[in-house]
Amino acid sequence: MSTTAAVAPIAFTRGVPPIEAIPFRELAVHTQAALLEQPAAMFQYAPIARHRGDAVLRALIGQAHDADADAVFVTNGSLQALDLLAALALRVGNPEVWVEAPTYDRALSIFRRHGGWVSGVALETDGIDVEALRSRLGHGVPAFLYTIPDFQNPGGVTMSEEKRRALAELAVHYGFRIVEDTPYRELRLRGASPPTLRELAGPEHVITIGSFSKVLSPGLRVGYVVADAQTSLDLASLAEDTYLSPAPLAQAIAARSLASGLVAENVARIRALLGPRHDHAVGAVREGLGDVLLAVPDGGYFLSIRLAVAAGEEALLRAALDAGVALTKGSAFFACAQPDDEVVVRLPFQALSPQDFADGVRRLGLAIESLPRS
Ligand SMILES: Cc1ncc(COP(=O)(O)O)c(C=O)c1O
Repeated sequence: MSTTAAVAPIAFTRGVPPIEAIPFRELAVHTQAALLEQPAAMFQYAPIARHRGDAVLRALIGQAHDADADAVFVTNGSLQALDLLAALALRVGNPEVWVEAPTYDRALSIFRRHGGWVSGVALETDGIDVEALRSRLGHGVPAFLYTIPDFQNPGGVTMSEEKRRALAELAVHYGFRIVEDTPYRELRLRGASPPTLRELAGPEHVITIGSFSKVLSPGLRVGYVVADAQTSLDLASLAEDTYLSPAPLAQAIAARSLASGLVAENVARIRALLGPRHDHAVGAVREGLGDVLLAVPDGGYFLSIRLAVAAGEEALLRAALDAGVALTKGSAFFACAQPDDEVVVRLPFQALSPQDFADGVRRLGLAIESLPRS
């Protein structure tokens, strides 16, 4: 029996926004305005015939991405964008999907559900291993390559501009598509953002996925795809055969929040909230566990650490829980099996106070010490 069983575990588990990051009151005002001013649109079916989403919202998203509104398709959260894109890309021909290793675990399960043969390319401290990618491309191309270029989940890594340029060139040269998933891009704490892959390789080669979950509210379930007009129509056909359209109300709230400047204000608030949490978290890991960080993110939600654990991942997860800290299984972020004595642990810092984060790291340190060393 654990001696710390009475202590509530500190959760290093989900990447959920802190509740203080959601602007409830302002969202309620926009909700009421949408209901009162556009009741027919809010309570009626959206138009059909390959409907791509709320027209105002698509125009605003298009402006932000230097794209035509016709290229924008709105989804129920960005996860649905991944699902529909995978369905589209994998229904004929090439089943190969390449991802960063590690990558977002739900993306892996979505791609597999659509029959994707998913394999990983190593993630380095400055993004995907471009040289490993280049040598694989000598043998064939994937249906698409999935990347999270900014404040990666789980690694916290941001792809350098140099690597983005190299990756863009490879996509153009070998003729494959990149899907860049960007939910954390706006949550940069310092420094300037490198260009997006879409900016570097263009819409023929890059599909961008975005989300309002981390900048406004995940409960709205509003995400989007910025691609080209044909892809957007193809996605709309698939959607129409499945669920007709996303809920008009959630899209209208997102549109009003963008147009009124609420999203920009909220992003500034989130940065102010997360900055100290990030810095304390980095300090706590370095002090408590040493030089184990995959990267210092300077943004987003996640730190990740790599640990040599001879006893293996299952033993570490059990020992951690006994010590009062709940971890996500790091191996779930990899497309292929990893050596069992090397464990990746994701440490979301966005929703924990500096004190709780430091306490969690201390408990994790105790768990590591409690394990046999060989
Ligand atoms: C990389 C990545 N993509 C997509 C999502 C899902 O976001 P949404 O709430 O827009 O479906 C997440 C959520 O954690 C994520 O980390």
